[in-house]
Amino acid sequence: MRVKNQRITEIKNLEKEAVAKWEQSPFRNAFHLMPPVGWLNDPNGLCQRKGVYHIFFQYAPFDAEGGDKYWGHYETKDFIEYTYTGIFLSPDCEWDKDGAFSGSAYVEEDEIYIFYTGNTEEGEGDLVYEGRGANTILVTTKDGIKSSEKHCLLANEDYPKELSCHVRDPKVFKVDDTYYMVLGGRTREDKGCILIYKSQDKRSWEFLKLLAAKEEEPFGYMWECPDLFQMADKWCLSFSPQGVETKEHCFQNVYQSGYCILQERVIPEKSKMITQEGIRIEDFKEWDYGFDFYAPQTFLDEKGRRILIGWMGMGDAAYSNPTVGEGWQHCLTMPRVLTLSEEKETLLQNPIEEMLSLRDHVILEIENQDNPLQPEEAKDRERVSAEWEGCFELCMNMEPGTDFAVTLDRSLKFSYQAEKGMLSLCFLPQEECGKEDAKGYARTERTALIDKEKGVSDIRMFVDNSCVEIYINKGEIVFSSRYYKTDKKHTLVVEGNCSLKAYALREFCYKGME
Ligand code: FRU
Repeated sequence: MRVKNQRITEIKNLEKEAVAKWEQSPFRNAFHLMPPVGWLNDPNGLCQRKGVYHIFFQYAPFDAEGGDKYWGHYETKDFIEYTYTGIFLSPDCEWDKDGAFSGSAYVEEDEIYIFYTGNTEEGEGDLVYEGRGANTILVTTKDGIKSSEKHCLLANEDYPKELSCHVRDPKVFKVDDTYYMVLGGRTREDKGCILIYKSQDKRSWEFLKLLAAKEEEPFGYMWECPDLFQMADKWCLSFSPQGVETKEHCFQNVYQSGYCILQERVIPEKSKMITQEGIRIEDFKEWDYGFDFYAPQTFLDEKGRRILIGWMGMGDAAYSNPTVGEGWQHCLTMPRVLTLSEEKETLLQNPIEEMLSLRDHVILEIENQDNPLQPEEAKDRERVSAEWEGCFELCMNMEPGTDFAVTLDRSLKFSYQAEKGMLSLCFLPQEECGKEDAKGYARTERTALIDKEKGVSDIRMFVDNSCVEIYINKGEIVFSSRYYKTDKKHTLVVEGNCSLKAYALREFCYKGME
C-alpha cells in the first residue's frame, strides 16, 4: 500500500508539472482527450451512470513511449467540460502486477462494474505461449474514483486449452437475464479468435463458445478488444485484429480494427442456441481508413445512443509523433454515434451532436462553387483559398460523381477521384508541398474505395492542433490521423464543384488539472 501511495503521489507531481506546460505546446489538442502526461492508448470502461459519462483510458504516465499500464479517468456530463480525476486502477496486486490492461464497464443497480485484464509476466517464457498471466478481474465503483477490492474471476487455466497466453480485453453486456462476456484471443496455432462466456451473477463465468474466422485461413493471429452489441435487429461484432495482410486500399496500417454485421445470432435468444459458427471475414468493414485509429470501444448511453470512442494512435507503426519530446503521446477520437445504414450493411459514424456546441463564428462560406479540377498544367493555380488561425470544422457538399481536393496547409491533401471511386488522404512529399510547414512524421498515403455510382456527396472535416478526423457521406467512411503543423496560420485550398462552410471551434474545458 505504501508503495502504491508513493507511486500515485509521483504521478500527481508529474501530471502537475506537465499540465503547467500545456500552454507552451502547439500540439496539445483543443477537442481530443489526451493524457495529462506520458502515454495513452485504448479507451476503457466507457459508460454513463446518473448522467455522468466515464471515460477511462490505458495510461502509462511515467514514459511517453509506454510502460506499465494504469487506468486514468475523465468524467463529463456534456462532452465539452471534462474533469480529470486521476488514476483509477494501478498495477498493484498479484493478478495485475505487470499492467492493468483494457476492459469495459457495465452499469447496474447504481454501481459500475469494471471488468479488465490483469497482466502478469513470469519466468523465461516468450510471453506468447508461455510466461504470461491473463487474469480477468472485477472491481466496482460508483464514481470512477474510489474502487472496491479486486476480484480475480478467470485465469489462464479457465480459458480453453487451445488458447495461448494472449487472452484479454473483456467486454460485458446483458441479454434477457443473462450476462455475457467477450474476450479477445490468440490460439496456440496463431489464429485470432473471440471467447464468449456467460454468467448469472457477473462473478462466476461459464465458457460458451470460441468464434474465429469461418474460412480456413486465419484472419490475423490475434483479435484484441472485442465488442458485441445490437443495432436494431442486427448483432455487430467489433474487434481489432493483428497480423492481417495489407491489400490495396484495405488494411493499410500495422494493425486493423473493424466490425462485422453478423448473419446470425451469436447469443442465445431465450431457449434458442447460439447459431453462428464462425465469422465471415468478407463481412469485415474497417472502422477508419486513416493512419491513427485502433482499439475502439462502444457503449450505450442513457439516451440510448451507441457511442464509439477509438484510440487515435497505432502501436508499432513506422511513423512517429513529435510530442514524445514534450513528454506525452497519443489521444482519443471524438465520441462518435453509431447508426445502422438503411440497407443495414454499414454502421454510420458521426461525431456526437454535442460537438456542434463547439462551433464559434463562420470563417469561410462559399455557395455552389463551380470550379472543376484544373488540368495538370495549371496545377498551381489555387481556386478557393483561405487563411486563418485555430481549430476548425469544414463542412462540404459536392456534386456526386465529380472529383475534388482539399489541401490543408499546403501539405495534407484529401481528395476524391471519381473515375476510380477512390478517396485519398496524403501527406504531400516535400518536393510537392515545397515547404516544411506541416508534417506527417513519415505518414504517407491512405486510400479507400467507395461505390463509384454513389460518389461523394458530403464531408465534415475536423482539424485540431495535432489531428484531423474526416467523415464522408454522413459517416459511411472515416479517416483519422495525427497531423502536425508548425505554422500558426492554416491555409486551405479547395478544388472541385462544391459548397462549403467552415466554423472556428472552441476548446474543451478541463477541471482537475489546475
Ligand atoms: C490494444 C491493447 C489491448 C491491451 C492493451 C494494453 O491496444 O494491446 O489488447 O489490453 O492494449 O495496453
